[in-house]
Formats: sequence, structure tokens, C-alpha cells
Amino acid sequence: MSGKFVALTPELHAYVAEHRSERDPVLAGLAQETARLGRAAAMQVSPEQGAFLSLLVRAIGARRALEVGTFTGYGAVSIARGLPDDGRLLCCDVSEEWSAIARRAFERAGVAGRVELRVAPALETLRSLPAGDTFDFAFVDADKTSYRAYHEEILPRLRVDGLIVFDNVLWSGAVVDPSDRTSDTVALRELNDFLPTDPRVECVMIPLADGLTIARKRGPNEGARR
Ligand SMILES: C[S@@+](CC[C@H](N)C(=O)[O-])C[C@H]1O[C@@H](n2cnc3c(N)ncnc32)[C@H](O)[C@@H]1O
Repeated sequence: MSGKFVALTPELHAYVAEHRSERDPVLAGLAQETARLGRAAAMQVSPEQGAFLSLLVRAIGARRALEVGTFTGYGAVSIARGLPDDGRLLCCDVSEEWSAIARRAFERAGVAGRVELRVAPALETLRSLPAGDTFDFAFVDADKTSYRAYHEEILPRLRVDGLIVFDNVLWSGAVVDPSDRTSDTVALRELNDFLPTDPRVECVMIPLADGLTIARKRGPNEGARR
């Protein structure tokens, strides 16, 4: 074995998923409702990812959050649960059908008052925001070929020490298969190569579900500490 890691078996994965503190009947019901959509349900974040999003949002004391790619709302409810009562979550998605399911989940979870869901291409939504709109936390989980563009749109609006979390950065392992030249894989590989070289952020990739990269925005005088 080179390096220190544990390759997950199905049993170990079940063990990891089981050992989390978030237990939310609304999210469990939403997962069941989403499963009835068939193949599309695979897009939903996993329960342990949802728990991790809630924890991160709470840990950094986020008040203003963003989700790019909301689908039926599992990640959004998880993020909104981590916000204070007067917190705000802006959700972006292009699907009216899936957004309707998400809106119902926001009501059931009691977080509808802190969530705004805009149905439009996320880059359009982000570019239309007033200059003063800023975020403490962002979760990027939409079209993979736009991830780099989302990074460039979100970062100027992120407070110092705020976090951007990118989902699917392992892309089922395809990122290390050089024969895979499909546009999504190439875009994710390029983002993965770029982020550690971006002096504006500090980042780490963690192999939770399909892989998450967490990027923290550095302060203006932080260069000397690197
Ligand atoms: C992987 S799913 C998101 C899963 C979701 N974060 C969750 O917690 O279950 C990707 C979503 O991105 C949306 N999407 C795709 N392209 C988009 C775009 N250009 N702008 C906004 N949303 C987009 C899709 O409609 C889909 O709902």
C-alpha cells in the first residue's frame, strides 16, 4: 500500500454512511420521493454528503449560502438546516419539474423562508446578482463543464475564509483514466489540476461519495503564510 488510505468495500461504505449524527425524516422522505424518478435519482447527494454540508455550514457560521444545481433539494435542505433562522440560501436550477419537488421539501423541512430558488441557467442568475451580494458558503453541483466558470463567478462574491464545495470531482474514477476524453471528465480534470495552483484559495479533495473539493478563500495578506 502506498500512502495512507482505506479502499471502501460496500460494507465499509455502509459503515461510514451509518456513523453520522444527522437523522432527518424530511430528508429520508425526499430520498424516497426522488428514487421514484428512476435513473435521475442517482444525481441526488448522498445522506453523508448532506450531513457534511450541514456541518460545514454550521462550523463556519455561514449566514448567506448558494447552491448551483439543486435538483430535488436534498443538498439545499441540508445547507438550509445549517443556517441560522435569518440565514439565506440562493438555489439555482434549470428544471421546473425538479424545482417543484425541492420547493415542497423546503416547506416540509420548515426552511422555505430562508430559501430562494431561481429557475434559470446558474451563470445567468449569478451574473444578474447585485454587486453587493456576497456568500459565506457555496455548493457547486450542476453542469460539470461550467464548474470553472462557477468558480470565477462565485469567488469574488465569497467572503474571506468562506468555502466553495465542488461535487463529483472524482467522476466515478474517470478523472484518472487518460483514455476518457469526454467533455465532463476533461472539465473536472482541468478544474482539479487548476484549483491547487489558484493562489486565491486553499483546497483539499476528500473522497466522500463521488469526491468533494473544499476550497477556502484566502485573505489578501495570506501569501506570506503559505
Ligand atoms: C447532480 S444534480 C444536483 C443534485 C443536488 N445538489 C442534490 O442535493 O440532490 C444537478 C442539477 O443541476 C441542474 N443543472 C444542470 N445544468 C444547470 C445550469 N446550467 N444551471 C443551473 N442548474 C443546472 C440540473 O437540472 C440538476 O438538477
